[in-house]
Amino acid sequence: TPDKWVKRDPRLVRLTGKHPFNSEARLDTLFAAGFLTPTSLFYVRNHGAVPKVNADRARNWKLRVHGLVQREATFSIADLKRMFPVVTLPITLVCAGNRRKEQNMVQKSLGFNWGAAGLSTALFTGVYLADVLEYVKPQRPSSKHVVFEGADADLPNGPYGTSQKLPVAANREKGMLIAWKMNGLDLEPDHGFPLRMVIPGQIGGRSVKWLTRIEISEVESQHYLHFNDNKMLPTQLGAQQARGEPHWWHDPKYIINDLNVNSAIAEPNHGEVLPVHPEDLVESQYQIKGYAYAGGGRRVTRTEISLDEGNSWALADIVYPEDLYRSVVVEDPVYGSLDLTERDTSFCWCFWSFNVSVEELTKCNAIMVRATDESQALQQRDMYWNATGMMNNWWFRVAIHHER
Ligand code: MTE
Repeated sequence: TPDKWVKRDPRLVRLTGKHPFNSEARLDTLFAAGFLTPTSLFYVRNHGAVPKVNADRARNWKLRVHGLVQREATFSIADLKRMFPVVTLPITLVCAGNRRKEQNMVQKSLGFNWGAAGLSTALFTGVYLADVLEYVKPQRPSSKHVVFEGADADLPNGPYGTSQKLPVAANREKGMLIAWKMNGLDLEPDHGFPLRMVIPGQIGGRSVKWLTRIEISEVESQHYLHFNDNKMLPTQLGAQQARGEPHWWHDPKYIINDLNVNSAIAEPNHGEVLPVHPEDLVESQYQIKGYAYAGGGRRVTRTEISLDEGNSWALADIVYPEDLYRSVVVEDPVYGSLDLTERDTSFCWCFWSFNVSVEELTKCNAIMVRATDESQALQQRDMYWNATGMMNNWWFRVAIHHER
């Protein structure tokens, strides 16, 4: 396969055939690794071959910023470092297909199975897209969109690309980065070496890897995968029907950008065996644990647990490890500044936990979790099945099977 030269951790579970490479870690492995995902366990979603970029080509990497601007520019990574403030932010990326396996079990969608580990968090270092846009000066009022393009080697329908609306992209608070480091080291080839976009709070598909070009335009991206991926079509449309009717894919109403609120149970994991001894029944406690996230920079405000199939819900405890970074001001040759001090937005997953007596656990048939975000969006009881199998966020459920 074309990616033979790319080093990959054997703990990443392949989700599709030999090529391209798509993978997630096991949920228990990802969860045990903690708030910042080691780069080797970070999920990978590639549409084509990884561009082979040696050190020389990386040094001469050119990012062209052009289109409806007053000052076109081409930047090397050294130029970006020199011309703009370098910042580091912890950011969770989530594939829009996270949890798609549950949808495919109900009815096969057009997409492949992801478990609940299609998300990962890293410290990304780069410059704000907003600062670069300010430098090139988009022409008003004609410029409306910011289009990104990557250098994927072998895509059948042209390069990978997508876009953002200009007012969103130009807002520094959205935290969009043109990044070259991940967890303090150069990006790995699978994650966009040497340069990528990192778009917090939106589906991973907007974070274009191997970034070569940014165009300020009157129209949205015309890239094939901008229209034919990362859409959430109405549930009434079956997979085959959707594939055959291109007009749905071109209807701007069905694009997905901001992530929706979501959560999952990591402990106990599906299929995990919990040995229960008679003496455990007296006083022992079990701690149920998992993650939650929301989109658009919104914070998860509640996570709730049900042990009776959703009839009643109890409040779980939440911790936000992202907040630990807010009080830190670093000026560092590698990281630049850790720019969270004045930011109110939430760009990362958070963790919840809930104590239950072992006795109670042995009596219930399932554990469920649901989260709410600060816009009061609440995960729903029912799955919203859709042809592309995107953004599945119904209540997460781990069934309990009793053995004796
Ligand atoms: N950028 C390019 N150039 N090519 C791609 O195939 N995949 C996108 C996005 N950026 C993709 C890309 C999708 S769908 C996702 S979910 C994220 O990259 C995944 O980023 P990761 O592989 O670093 O986790």
